[in-house]
Amino acid sequence: MLRGAPRGFLLGAATSAYQTEGGNRNDWTDWEKGRYPDGTPHVADGLTADRLDDSWNRWPQDVAALRLLGANVYRLGVEWSRLEPAEGTWDQAAADRYRAMFAALRAAHIAPFVTLYHFTLPTWIAARGGWEWAGTPAALAAFAGRAGAAFGDLVDWWCTINEPNVLVAKSYLAGQWPPGVRDPARGARVMAALMRAHGLMTAALRASDRADADGDGRATQIGIAQNLRIFDPASAGPLDGLAAGIADGFYDESFLDAVTLGRVRVVLPGVADIDEPFPALAGSFDYLGINYYTRDRIEARLSGSPPYRALPTGDRPHNDLGWEIYPEGLYRLLVRYARRGWPLLVTENGLADAGGQARPDFLRAHLYAVDRALAEGVDVRGYIFWSLMDNFEWSHGARGRFGLFTVDFSDPGLARRPTAAVATFREAAGNLRSD
Ligand code: FCB
Repeated sequence: MLRGAPRGFLLGAATSAYQTEGGNRNDWTDWEKGRYPDGTPHVADGLTADRLDDSWNRWPQDVAALRLLGANVYRLGVEWSRLEPAEGTWDQAAADRYRAMFAALRAAHIAPFVTLYHFTLPTWIAARGGWEWAGTPAALAAFAGRAGAAFGDLVDWWCTINEPNVLVAKSYLAGQWPPGVRDPARGARVMAALMRAHGLMTAALRASDRADADGDGRATQIGIAQNLRIFDPASAGPLDGLAAGIADGFYDESFLDAVTLGRVRVVLPGVADIDEPFPALAGSFDYLGINYYTRDRIEARLSGSPPYRALPTGDRPHNDLGWEIYPEGLYRLLVRYARRGWPLLVTENGLADAGGQARPDFLRAHLYAVDRALAEGVDVRGYIFWSLMDNFEWSHGARGRFGLFTVDFSDPGLARRPTAAVATFREAAGNLRSD
């Protein structure tokens, strides 16, 4: 594993702010306590994010876990609603705490890789319509600018937005996340807003963060973490092939096309056709972050909106949440996206596996996929595992256990206990070049 990785290869683990910190107040706070009309809770077993891993207070335990892994990078989030609880404010005490975390990471030779927006909105944004408020992209860009100024001397790696496509799919197609909408046309407009936000955020960060934290001559490395799925047709028939192409075009490709073209462009046949110039998007990726978990086998459903559906995975190896385990997909994505020309980083990859027994093989198989891509000359700069520890898996609550370290949320000490995959991870870290 990773013996052929280039010098400086980033190997580490990821979390997000809301999923681990505890004590936040944002658009999820009411949602996670709510129920659907049939009485089912929005979050499995009614778990709330009040305490979780309590990383806001226990972050030194997280740093200790990362050290045990031999990680040289930690992808973590800063919570917009915590730093800017009301429009135009800035919580300096919260910023100081994040600075202490980033400084401790740097002292441990672990680069902080900071996500600025990972699915949660401050309540003052949500009250105005969330992603449907025309002012949201500019407000998030202003926040990005402040974060760049506040943390830039400690942080070079920035992820503006985590998985814009997942946000649209969950919040505006499936209606499972706030604001709980099922309307593809609104979803397409939100996708366009996320594109504008990323373009503006990049410009704001480049202007405010001029400090080169790691001395490599670059003050910022900016990109998004894009959820990329494999969409394979369920049959050899032309309709399933066409439907898989439509799913792929909307979900995998549209954001990347927007950056390549410097245009806000969202096309979903029969639903949306948005196409307008947006120069801030051009050149806004220093890297493409790939979050890879699974593949879908797509069946056409021409009368539906969207005109396709994914088949159940019961007949294939799958994780605790039913997602197919398909390591070959990571290799296919790396080779495919090499053509876009951006350096690639795997910014998330992981397995919901409550017992932890399947995770070592999962990790090994996906690192081999990275090895194969590297051997073929693909410019892969890093691999970041989701997740460092068990956390709040959105609507799945505590049922999606992705941690290299497992956490019992009822344990008063919230100990981060190593799973079997920690040894596998350490072995990979030991193979990296030290020169
Ligand atoms: C990704 C999200 C992350 C986590 C993992 C399992 O889609 O970015 O927050 O939920 O899936």
